[in-house]
Amino acid sequence: MAKFSLPAGSKVKTGTVRNEPVGVNNRRFDVYRFDPSTGENPCVDIYNVDMDACGPMVLDALIKIKNEIDPTLTFRRSCREGICGSCAMNIDGTNALACLKPVEDVRGTVKIYPLPHMPVVKDLVPDLTNFYAQYASIKPWLQARTPPPPDRERLQSKHDQEKINEPSACILCACCSTSCPSYWWNSDRYLGPAALLQAYRWIVDSRDEATGERLDQLEDPFRLYRCHTILNCTQACPKDLNPGRAIAEIKKLMAERRH
Ligand code: SF4
Ligand code: F3S
Ligand code: FES
Repeated sequence: MAKFSLPAGSKVKTGTVRNEPVGVNNRRFDVYRFDPSTGENPCVDIYNVDMDACGPMVLDALIKIKNEIDPTLTFRRSCREGICGSCAMNIDGTNALACLKPVEDVRGTVKIYPLPHMPVVKDLVPDLTNFYAQYASIKPWLQARTPPPPDRERLQSKHDQEKINEPSACILCACCSTSCPSYWWNSDRYLGPAALLQAYRWIVDSRDEATGERLDQLEDPFRLYRCHTILNCTQACPKDLNPGRAIAEIKKLMAERRH
């Protein structure tokens, strides 16, 4: 059964030292471990990596640990260049993409936890089922009743296209939502900044004709209004997006249509 990971910085029992320090450029990695199939509590295992024989990023170190020290260590990754969003985790107390986080940016021991306040499937792998269901709930596709012109695509002006450029760059890594205290405590009912940024992306799309329905769906004390403008989300985004501002824009549109 999945358990909830602890907030970054919480005390988890130190587990096994998996290998002794190696090389002159040794770095220590304390990594959260949890395997629900064992019935054991989570712990933190200690690994030592010779950075002279390792790539510069935290993901390089995790891959080296898995390949050379402990094949049971479990984490997600795919692109290794900040595009797929799958290597999001909590590194040195901050949500980040492991493939974009240089080890040398962390002072001392590199502490690695799964994204905070999410159920854990195993080790550094959070269960994102609810996160994706929330994304699906905002209907992230074009809704238009008017048929497209027979001879071309639905066109947009450059100005209109620019409105969706930034929110379209979201890679759904969940760094923002899992850094938001409102989402920690109400993730069953509050959509969180990632899903709301995508809701905004479709609300402001000039080709979409379901703007009213999209706003109706967010008119709810929890889905939208649990955002208390804490802005951790914007600070956490590894793609430099601004979900906090997008949420404020949605609230503004809600207020405008009431008058
Ligand atoms: Fe990740 Fe940024 Fe998208 Fe949030 S807004 S899911 S942090 S890319
Ligand atoms: Fe959370 Fe960001 Fe709002 S941190 S409260 S979603 S501004
Ligand atoms: Fe794809 Fe890090 S591996 S974003």
